Amino acid sequence: MHVMFQKLLQGIELTGDLKSDVSAFLTGNDCPATALHSMEVGEEARSTALRFGGDPQAAEAAGWLHDISAVFPADTRVEVARILQVEVLPEEEQFPMIIHQKLSRVMAEDIFGIRNTEILDAVGCHTTLRAGSSHLDRILFVADKIAWDQTGTPPYLDRLNAELERSLEHGAYAYLSYLWERRNTLRVIHPWLREAHGELEQALRLPVKPRCSAFVVLDLDGTLLNSRKEVSPRNAKAVLDCGHGQRYT
Ligand SMILES: [Fe+2]
Ligand SMILES: [Fe+2]
Repeated sequence: MHVMFQKLLQGIELTGDLKSDVSAFLTGNDCPATALHSMEVGEEARSTALRFGGDPQAAEAAGWLHDISAVFPADTRVEVARILQVEVLPEEEQFPMIIHQKLSRVMAEDIFGIRNTEILDAVGCHTTLRAGSSHLDRILFVADKIAWDQTGTPPYLDRLNAELERSLEHGAYAYLSYLWERRNTLRVIHPWLREAHGELEQALRLPVKPRCSAFVVLDLDGTLLNSRKEVSPRNAKAVLDCGHGQRYT
């Protein structure tokens, strides 16, 4: 285990029960509010997984672990990331809060011994989502937004819940769109968020109706052709109007 993490465990006895260990770790490092939030996200992720056919245990574990890097103050996170050899993007350097998702991933593996890469990946993109997101990524992403870490009701909650009635992907897209519509007011636009938004927008777009390129006309009552077996100009216009979706009476 990295020496930086060993220091964080001083005075904390891990029992092997992940839920209580994460709670003790966060509380013991002066983050009781994050401990509470993480337990709530675990519960929300579990019920989201049950609703949309995911693994409830993995979802719950990801929820408990997702914010464990809160023990590092925001202004130290870029430095911590560099020490841990985690890639720092320019947007993360500019707004270090965002890199906590990557730090939590490393800590979940090194401190809590998580080896399930689905859980680690979900923890590692829970703030921004990412292109090619997994089902568990989307479950944790949505659960974290529903059980948010601030007071009051999230302003996007009604929209997110309404879209969740359609699918998990619609729910994730609803939150991404909420941010995207406000992108001019955001400190930074993380590239993973931009990619996740574009990808889901593409995937959820309604199929475009194909343009009509040919149609068949059947002369059921014998009135289309005249006595010379020709189509009169008037009838030809009527047929063409039908083909372009116009009514002919
Ligand atoms: Fe977070
Ligand atoms: Fe969170």
